[in-house]
Amino acid sequence: MPSLPNILRLLTRKTPPGPSAIAQILEFKAPSKFEQFFVDPLEYMQEYGSIVSLTTLIGPKCFLVTDPEAILYITKTNIDNFPKQSTLWNRIRLLLGNSSLGAEGGKNWQLKRKISQKGFSKTYLKNYAQQMQFVINVTSKRWERLARNKKIIDINNEMAFLALNIILKTLLNQTTTNKNLLLAKQTIEFGLTNLCHSNDIFMYPWVPTYANLKFHWLKKRLDSFLVDMLSNFEENPPVMPTAITEILKNKSEALIDKQFPIGELRVLLIAGYETTACALTWTWYLLAKNPQCTEKIYAELNKVLNSRTPTIEDLPNLPYLQAVYSEALRLYPSIPILNRKSIDEDTIQGYTIPKGSEILLHIYALHRNKHYWKDPLEFNPERFLDPNQPIHKPAYLPFGLGPRSCLGQSFAHIEIPLILANLAQKFKLRLKKNFTPKIQYGMSMHPHKLPMYIERR
Ligand code: HEM
Repeated sequence: MPSLPNILRLLTRKTPPGPSAIAQILEFKAPSKFEQFFVDPLEYMQEYGSIVSLTTLIGPKCFLVTDPEAILYITKTNIDNFPKQSTLWNRIRLLLGNSSLGAEGGKNWQLKRKISQKGFSKTYLKNYAQQMQFVINVTSKRWERLARNKKIIDINNEMAFLALNIILKTLLNQTTTNKNLLLAKQTIEFGLTNLCHSNDIFMYPWVPTYANLKFHWLKKRLDSFLVDMLSNFEENPPVMPTAITEILKNKSEALIDKQFPIGELRVLLIAGYETTACALTWTWYLLAKNPQCTEKIYAELNKVLNSRTPTIEDLPNLPYLQAVYSEALRLYPSIPILNRKSIDEDTIQGYTIPKGSEILLHIYALHRNKHYWKDPLEFNPERFLDPNQPIHKPAYLPFGLGPRSCLGQSFAHIEIPLILANLAQKFKLRLKKNFTPKIQYGMSMHPHKLPMYIERR
């Protein structure tokens, strides 16, 4: 016999509003419409509010959340009830393994995160900045040649290779061949894009389909490249320790599995390059579309540096540059949707969220919600600089929130402005005429290609 409180609870359950199953089927029939909805559900949010129930004919219930308070509750206040156990994470773990980013949660994740985090403290970051500078200089020299020959470059590719090189140089103190970089990029892009699309054979990774076989083959090759890099590192440890030094030091900890060093290296490579490259690519795109902002960056760089090469010490003196990439991350957050699953039934803002529900925390929609942002679709870096109208911080979450927020945030806040400052000081990028970027969706959302003319300033 159910108890009285349980009966009362059942009677007062309130489901968030949302479109009917029929409306959803009709609406999402076209694959492009379905993708569009996941990337840009603003119309839905306007119609149903900031917690929307999506009817799934089979499988668990699904809720779309864009309310800052609800996001805080799910990612921090009651984090234990919302681990990374969703269908999507279960699939992405095929690539990431059980490392900090991929781990479901709990003690094992806590320990791994604690170890990796040591390698992102202030002392480490100062050393990483020098290594970043080394890699940026190599790119800058190459761009000089490209600019002389008036070449068009795919800025999406350029930023991806630059960010990959930076991760390898800072964490492993190594460089590698273009062939290896391409392999890493291909594996990560193919894996993340395919694993994030729910409709295919990746549901069953053991089925020998072309996509599955290609994924396993690429991943095996990526791992053997990373194993080589890791053993090089162990044989020739750098003078200055890195996050990988910390990880190797703790590899025999109880609770830590044998795969920890390689798994964590793989994750730092994936999490650290895709997101940063995405942020940089969109920043260059938005600057090309808004030449008045580019001019302001040039003025700031001229004033602060007077032709001197920018260093980590200069970054606090470049507030406009910081506002520019913060605004790019608002309009195009590198990870547009965070994904969780409810372990037990819960109540959020008066609505019942059943046990086992899939939760989509829609950061992209939150960042474009007119309740929190004035003229939300406009690129306006000044909004981050106006002391009279400070931004509503809970509505700005490009690095996530709570204990599982970005581990590499401080790294990114050095890497992105250093790259922008160094390259914008010397080069001007112009978008190819009439080019409209086609967006590639995976865990991140970046232009498929972004052809730009490169010119010396
Ligand atoms: C613009 C740059 C970046 C952005 C926008 C970004 C964004 C994020 C977000 C939103 C999360 C949370 C994911 C979730 O809650 O599901 C995250 C987690 C993480 N990020 Fe970043 N990230 C960036 C750069 C980096 C860098 C440079 C590194 C490492 C070198 C890194 C390493 C990680 C790791 C390891 C996690 C997992 C933390 C955990 O689950 O405990 N990220 N990032």
